[in-house]
Amino acid sequence: MSTGRTKKETLRVHIRWMIRRDMPEVLQTEQESFEYSWTEEDFLRCLRQRNCIGMVAEQGEKVVGFMIYELHKSKLHILNFAVLPAYRRSGVGGQMSAKLMSKLSSHRRTRITLAVRETNLSAQLFFRAQGFRATRVLRAFYEDSGEDAFLMQYSFANDSGDDGDDEAVNRITQFEES
Ligand SMILES: CC(C)(COP(=O)(O)OP(=O)(O)OC[C@H]1O[C@@H](n2cnc3c(N)ncnc32)[C@H](O)[C@@H]1OP(=O)(O)O)[C@@H](O)C(=O)NCCC(=O)NCCS
Repeated sequence: MSTGRTKKETLRVHIRWMIRRDMPEVLQTEQESFEYSWTEEDFLRCLRQRNCIGMVAEQGEKVVGFMIYELHKSKLHILNFAVLPAYRRSGVGGQMSAKLMSKLSSHRRTRITLAVRETNLSAQLFFRAQGFRATRVLRAFYEDSGEDAFLMQYSFANDSGDDGDDEAVNRITQFEES
């Protein structure tokens, strides 16, 4: 369903915090999206962490997409991101990634990262279309299938796009503050 489609009309969605009541629709999207899908317990365990955020994309009353990400000192790290198959190629994923990008700034969180399975070509093409670039191969990253992942990264505006770690960015911050 998700490959090689003619472009549909852009579907305007409202993106808001995920709440407990969204879980059945989020789980449905998850199961329709991934071979190795997260369970409800996986979502809850993740969302209990203080730095973990869940958001949903809503069309009318219906949840058509979700994203889970972690807040780090200098970046956002996407852990899970999916759109209900029937709503794909309508710009929903693009609006979700734009929402994340709107949380970046030149002096605080400057990057968004995520790991994408090497076999998940549609996600690689999607994130590339949003301005992400593959920066590293993570060998045998997944316990389930043993496959590799590409680490993909989006960098805010004039950020160099280097695959630097948090330490490097923090040193710059310290320099600016001194
Ligand atoms: C990846 C995913 C989130 C994209 O969501 P979406 O709502 O379909 O994305 P959009 O409609 O905003 O797509 C924006 C652009 O990304 C690119 N793109 C998206 N899906 C693509 C695909 N299957 N093949 C090629 N390019 C694609 C296109 O350039 C597209 O623009 P276009 O439709 O004008 O050609 C969705 O396919 C999905 O849920 N996949 C399964 C879950 C998943 O793999 N998540 C990522 C985990 S790392």
